[in-house]
Amino acid sequence: MKSEFEVVRYDLEKDDYRSAANYAEKRYMGSANEYKKRVMSNAYKSLIGPLAGKRILDVGCGTGRGIADFASEAQIAIGTDASQDMLTIAARKLGGQLGTGFVRSYAQQLPFPSDYFDLVTTLNFLHLFSLDTQRGMVAEMKRVVIPGGIIILEFDNALQGLLLGMCKRWLGRERGATPREIRYVIGNGCTVLKIYGAVFPLVWRAFHHFSGLFTQVEKVSYHPPLNRLSHRVFYKLRKDLSLLKS
Ligand SMILES: C[S@@+](CC[C@H](N)C(=O)[O-])C[C@H]1O[C@@H](n2cnc3c(N)ncnc32)[C@H](O)[C@@H]1O
Repeated sequence: MKSEFEVVRYDLEKDDYRSAANYAEKRYMGSANEYKKRVMSNAYKSLIGPLAGKRILDVGCGTGRGIADFASEAQIAIGTDASQDMLTIAARKLGGQLGTGFVRSYAQQLPFPSDYFDLVTTLNFLHLFSLDTQRGMVAEMKRVVIPGGIIILEFDNALQGLLLGMCKRWLGRERGATPREIRYVIGNGCTVLKIYGAVFPLVWRAFHHFSGLFTQVEKVSYHPPLNRLSHRVFYKLRKDLSLLKS
């Protein structure tokens, strides 16, 4: 699949951080990574609420972390990603579940009808792209969700740990987004319902030793002012009902 779109390649040919072969193992396995994954998952699941009877799309689904969280409850859970290798791994893990499917596509041009999904999510994905590309991708997400439907966006936070995020940005290590940039990416036609933070910067690496306690303590960062200082921020948007076609 040749593309004129901005793509960040994750596949089996890569032998670095973006290798599809050990993507999940590197990020989501081991006690510290599992702790971080649980904290993020608690945050977005708590923002989303019940999923029964819903059609869900996870954009940039990779090896299926989000779909694994949604599949058992949702009516339909579709993961889409530009990398066939990532999708193959996701499908191997989850493809057999009823109502679950994986589709190869670019987030800039989703191959789904307008006003179709009840919920669209994108996890650990947007920060890989320029702000204009992110804005275009979010516009596509707004197109495919029903009026009144929900979109969950995860951002890397430029304000994490007060100055830490800005230092990382300045050093070029992570492209965290500021609240103003996030507003630009979100654009019009929807309302921000809630903003949750997740994962205390740096110190999370120690918390996994006391996982039971700290996964509970981490919930304080759902709310202001800590939501603005967390490593990740999750925006819950509702597509405006005025976009209902008569
Ligand atoms: C950091 S991974 C995130 C995967 C998953 N959401 C997670 O949380 O583990 C980024 C994913 O974006 C996909 N990707 C890169 N460019 C893309 C594009 N233009 N459209 C759709 N997916 C893309 C990659 O193939 C990769 O699977």
